[in-house]
Amino acid sequence: MYILLMGPPGAGKGTQAARLIGEYGIPHISTGDMFRAAVKEGTLLGLEAKRYMDAGQLVPDSVTIGIVKERLAKADCKSGFILDGFPRTLEQATALDSTLQELGIRLDRVINITAPSGELVRRMTGRRVCRKCGATYHVVFNPPAKDGQCDKCAGEVYQRDDDREETVAKRLNVYQVQTQPLIDYYRNQGLYTEIDGLQPIEKVFEDITGSLRGGRA
Ligand code: AP5
Ligand code: MG
Ligand code: ZN
Repeated sequence: MYILLMGPPGAGKGTQAARLIGEYGIPHISTGDMFRAAVKEGTLLGLEAKRYMDAGQLVPDSVTIGIVKERLAKADCKSGFILDGFPRTLEQATALDSTLQELGIRLDRVINITAPSGELVRRMTGRRVCRKCGATYHVVFNPPAKDGQCDKCAGEVYQRDDDREETVAKRLNVYQVQTQPLIDYYRNQGLYTEIDGLQPIEKVFEDITGSLRGGRA
């Protein structure tokens, strides 16, 4: 199953991807997670990406497309993947098309999780992430059992640098200008399904898996 998971920042892409990989046993490829891993490792890529991420801007296409191409060529992507947060520009989308064509892969479905901006702000500003394993929580909607500690690995949970209120507003704006136009791109290809992300996490998951079971649009 080759799935593209789209949606504005904070819509629940990462939360749903974590469940979908359990259901389908395919890799979760999140460009945001890849950049955060590079920041943690202190690589050159991490240093460059951090400047853009902290400013709420997109990392340049030339950098982002390169790392995704490399990742998709790995053996574990042969039986499927969930791409989360890529593509985010038209240039990324056309680059993805040609990469998939080279690999002989056809996307099964493009899922777009939606939610109104007030809710997105609440979700991002209340989000907490495990430093060790990356598990995602929310101080109100999905708190860890023990305050400040990950349920899965007992690691420390922290707030992402780009989840501060002023950066969150910039990210939402960047999404509207640069990424929202991709909806029509995929709608025109007949692959597009919209999911109401305002529902509880479990219900959003049911809607996604229901749509995937339905086969091609
Ligand atoms: P990235 O990490 O991809 O961030 P994003 O797209 O802004 O999305 P988020 O991870 O913030 O949200 P999400 O949809 O995954 O929501 P989550 O499940 O965590 O990108 C970060 C940065 O990296 C970008 O700004 C850019 O600089 C760079 N970058 C990444 N990809 C790039 C690309 N392709 N090109 C260029 N630059 C790129 O949920 C959010 C919160 O809500 C959590 O607390 C969760 O517990 C809670 N929640 C989730 N679902 C629900 C629900 N149904 N009800 C209640 N609460 C919920
Ligand atoms: Mg995410
Ligand atoms: Zn953890």
